Amino acid sequence: MSNNSRRKFLRQLGSTAALLGAGPLASMGREHIHILQPEKRISANDKIRLACVGMGIMGFGDVDTALKVPGVEFVGAADLYDGHLQKVKEVYGSNVFTTRDYRELLDRKDIDAVIVATPDHWHDTISIYAMEKGKAVYCEKPMVQQIAEGHQVIATQKRTGKVFQVGSQRVSSVAMVEARKRYQAGEIGQLNVVEACYDRHDALGAWQYSIPPDASPKTVDFDTFLKDTAKVPFDPVRFFRWRNYQAYGTGIPGDLFVHLITGLHYITGSIGPSRVFASGNLVQWKDGRDVPDVVIAIFDYPETKVHPAFQTTLRVNFADGGGGGQYTRFIGTEGVLEMGWNDFKIKKHKLPEAPGYGGWDTYNTFTKAQQEAYVQQYNTKYPEAMRKGDRSESKYAAPAGYDDRQDHFVNFFEAMRTGKAVVEDATFGLRAAGPALLTNESYFKKQPIHWNPESMQIV
Ligand SMILES: NC(=O)c1ccc[n+]([C@@H]2O[C@H](COP(=O)([O-])OP(=O)(O)OC[C@H]3O[C@@H](n4cnc5c(N)ncnc54)[C@H](O)[C@@H]3O)[C@@H](O)[C@H]2O)c1
Repeated sequence: MSNNSRRKFLRQLGSTAALLGAGPLASMGREHIHILQPEKRISANDKIRLACVGMGIMGFGDVDTALKVPGVEFVGAADLYDGHLQKVKEVYGSNVFTTRDYRELLDRKDIDAVIVATPDHWHDTISIYAMEKGKAVYCEKPMVQQIAEGHQVIATQKRTGKVFQVGSQRVSSVAMVEARKRYQAGEIGQLNVVEACYDRHDALGAWQYSIPPDASPKTVDFDTFLKDTAKVPFDPVRFFRWRNYQAYGTGIPGDLFVHLITGLHYITGSIGPSRVFASGNLVQWKDGRDVPDVVIAIFDYPETKVHPAFQTTLRVNFADGGGGGQYTRFIGTEGVLEMGWNDFKIKKHKLPEAPGYGGWDTYNTFTKAQQEAYVQQYNTKYPEAMRKGDRSESKYAAPAGYDDRQDHFVNFFEAMRTGKAVVEDATFGLRAAGPALLTNESYFKKQPIHWNPESMQIV
């Protein structure tokens, strides 16, 4: 190992150890957080040359995070708004190649991997093009905007064998790994309901993002943005607030349900629901959008080899006067596991075998003599050991400063370097995006939608 790589390794090791601290958390985390192994040398030769298509909020966020992983270099970007390409040079230097045309970027031989962080309706086309050109792809969630596109992405990945990972960072979180272990250990008994929400209460949270003053047909390639959707005149609102339109985004389900579904599938090992029914409304953000700002959906998860049948409700409310917040509660017969983002708590409530008596109970209506007889009978039937349940609480939180997205990139680059399977492949991606897309289908058609989670097809 060269002095340089050794220093890098020690730096990485030091910061990871500091992050993890001591105690059981440290030993748990070390197993999961990918500490740079001394034998995996980061030399100039195996630097990963990274590009990004779509340099908006997430593009910059993803590139910044990816660059925290040693051995990664940012070499090029494509975007349809000139201001974002200029910003790329401002932030990462004038040497970074920039273009409006993702094909020009992906045709380059000096790029190993690409982040796809465009609006949803472009994910499939750019990911497929990139894999065909031999690049590894980190595709932002939701993997696709249409179910058929998902099958094409899966087929392309299988044919090309390229590394493809969906950008739902939660699946790489140390908290998710720990929660899954605890769930699998049976801590909440038999799962029967999952309830999750991701509520918000502010204009930016409801996707009213800022529009740059220089937005114009000159600075924006609006026609390319439209892709195969209906031709409309230049509209900066559509371009910069694309989430508000069915044509380009996937509404609340594709934007936020998908995070909740991803976490749910990861922890339970589920491949998806068999039926979805959604309802919703446009309550507060009547700014021309054609998607609802409140969505509630019920999902039936059928029994599989790895989990019992259970029901799920998901809710996103952008008009939540309570201030917003998110959680996923896994409710079992013996407790509840409540996930935050990089933290969770488990409340155990295992019932004793003995039913108890005397509370809201007919026992109180018995005569004194009957009460005495009943207690005698009860004590014989339920000895002390059968009267004890388990009521306890435990909490877990990832260390302060922990970033699940960084671990997600570590996993992605590790898959590229070692051939190890990615944490969220294209099939997992479609099984997470699918129920979100079905939610839209159900909402707009006002009817339940049946889904085959195995074949990932509407029935
Ligand atoms: N994993 C997460 O937590 C997370 C969080 C936010 C967003 N996302 C996902 O990231 C993606 C981008 O979201 P965002 O908030 O950054 O949007 P954004 O509008 O801020 O950025 C999108 C960028 O893509 C560019 N673009 C549009 N079409 C393009 C094309 N054909 N070629 C090249 N560039 C193109 C736009 O000019 C814009 O700069 C979405 O799919 C979103 O769901 C993921």
